[in-house]
Amino acid sequence: MRSFFTVIFFIIISTFCSAQNVKAIDLPALTSTSNLELKNLMEWLIDPAADAIWDSVSTIIDRNGTTNISPKNDAEWETLRQQAAVLTEAGNLLMMSDRVRPGKIWPLAAKKLKTSGLLALQATMNKDPDLLFKAGEEIYKSCAGCHHAYANFEKSTSSIPQGSNSVLHLSRQSQPFQFASH
Ligand code: HEC
Repeated sequence: MRSFFTVIFFIIISTFCSAQNVKAIDLPALTSTSNLELKNLMEWLIDPAADAIWDSVSTIIDRNGTTNISPKNDAEWETLRQQAAVLTEAGNLLMMSDRVRPGKIWPLAAKKLKTSGLLALQATMNKDPDLLFKAGEEIYKSCAGCHHAYANFEKSTSSIPQGSNSVLHLSRQSQPFQFASH
């Protein structure tokens, strides 16, 4: 619950790190059958991993001043590396044939999750908070783009259902991402 007396601004720090050194990957649908329902894949695997990345780098300005949050030690970087790996592979899991939904956006969004997960992975290997922040933005585009096209909750007032604790989710919900189609 947000305090009435504390106003927290999240400053979006633009970085100009290029994603070009992360190789684009084509994702043909995989044929094996999935085990988790999509809802649970989102809730148990993808959402916690994304939250860990989003929560890891931010700048908070409140009445106590400015606080920069970024991973503090090797153990924290390692945890984030694991979450980045989860997101990268989740791109593949979304392309299992019985999960894929019709339309062009699905594979694009899944691929975006994979490439942005790889970017986050690279950031954690290099212990680069700016790149990790940038990767977080790219990861968000994957979520928002797919939800906008396929999930009903995107059309309601909140883009992410109650229960998600990511503040960045909330602050960015008004910017649905559109994939450019090639
Ligand atoms: C390729 C498409 C796709 C991508 C990418 C995607 N999602 Fe989803 N997500 C969905 C769909 C579709 C639903 C609605 C679930 C359903 O229809 O059962 C959903 C539902 C959810 C839910 C709600 C689960 C529930 O309890 O019902 C959360 C939370 C969620 N996604 C988080 C994320 C986050 C965070 C990301 C990005 C890191 C992400 N999703 C990326 C397609 C996607």
